[in-house]
Amino acid sequence: MQIQQNISLKPYNTFGIDVKANHFVSVTSIEDLKAIFSSEDFPQKFILGGGSNMLLTKDIDALVIHLNLKGKEVLRKTDSEVLVESQAGENWHEFVLWTLEKDFGGVENLSLIPGNVGTSPIQNIGAYGVELKDTFHSCNALNLETLEVETFTNSECEFDYRNSIFKQQGKGKYIIVSVVFKLTTKNHILYTNYGAITSELEHMNVKQPTIQGISKAVISIRESKLPNPKEIGNSGSFFKNPVIPKHDFLKLQENFPEAPNYVVSETEIKVPAGWLIEQAGFKGKTFGNYGVHKKQALVLVNYGGAKGSDILALSKLIQDTVLRIFDITIETEVNIV
Ligand code: EPU
Repeated sequence: MQIQQNISLKPYNTFGIDVKANHFVSVTSIEDLKAIFSSEDFPQKFILGGGSNMLLTKDIDALVIHLNLKGKEVLRKTDSEVLVESQAGENWHEFVLWTLEKDFGGVENLSLIPGNVGTSPIQNIGAYGVELKDTFHSCNALNLETLEVETFTNSECEFDYRNSIFKQQGKGKYIIVSVVFKLTTKNHILYTNYGAITSELEHMNVKQPTIQGISKAVISIRESKLPNPKEIGNSGSFFKNPVIPKHDFLKLQENFPEAPNYVVSETEIKVPAGWLIEQAGFKGKTFGNYGVHKKQALVLVNYGGAKGSDILALSKLIQDTVLRIFDITIETEVNIV
């Protein structure tokens, strides 16, 4: 375990923001993690997973701990189900591809989501009608006070839309070191109802979809709409889709009858933030080396060399404009550091 000094974090965040860590360590075992947290050498610590859900706005005056725990294995297999465990530092999409090679079903709709397995439960990643919580069995997390590894079951994680205990009362108290998923080995349940998937499968002329076919359709949709962070820096959806009271939505609909919406409950409606931002005139707008993606207004992009503080200022302008026009508050989905 080697502690380095003055390291650029550009390769470690998908936004590609060039800020520095005054100390940096890449950690490959739980023992190393425990040693770091029991030492008093670096009182300030900052945990870095896949770096796919954060906007870095300043240099990090702390020991940045890059979680590099690797390994995937089958724990238990029955006739119809399997439990698999992945260590936190595995790349999420590579994990999905590994499950598909083995013909294990359940995470195919979550193909190509950037980030690592260890951070996937924190915000309960979701796409195309499926959320992480649907296949999540449990996770092991290091309690940073006791330095013991604790297991959290699905219900203990208190999953919700882009939310979990690790974003609420557990924030800053645990490091997820591995995640266990319960997947199917046969009679896979296929989630093809999401509009874009149905039309992509038709376009691909797939009549009898498989989990591998759904993954290909999802990859194709994502590649057509969302920028590849290896080419254009971004953090996926920058904002969450706001959930508003039904009576507020009915008022919105009077002025904007075409407003897309999803019913959340009898009293609440979710409105796509991408639509609100597009209506506010921001879709595809560029401001020098950063801006709003031209195919998906939810995604803010760094065309190269942008500062996190500039992107943060743009996000505030978008929030203020959406609030002024629609009287709706949109919250950021990414963590601002
Ligand atoms: N829309 C617009 N303009 C835009 C973008 C979207 O009008 O620029 C409209 C679309 O026409 C559609 C609706 O908004 O009617 C929903 O769009 P889409 O299906 O693309 O999904 P989304 O609500 O924009 C969410 C997730 C994505 C996930 C997709 C697909 C959130 C914050 N985002 O986006 O997640 O991939 O659904 O399931 O919930 C991520 O979290 O990083 C992410 C990419």
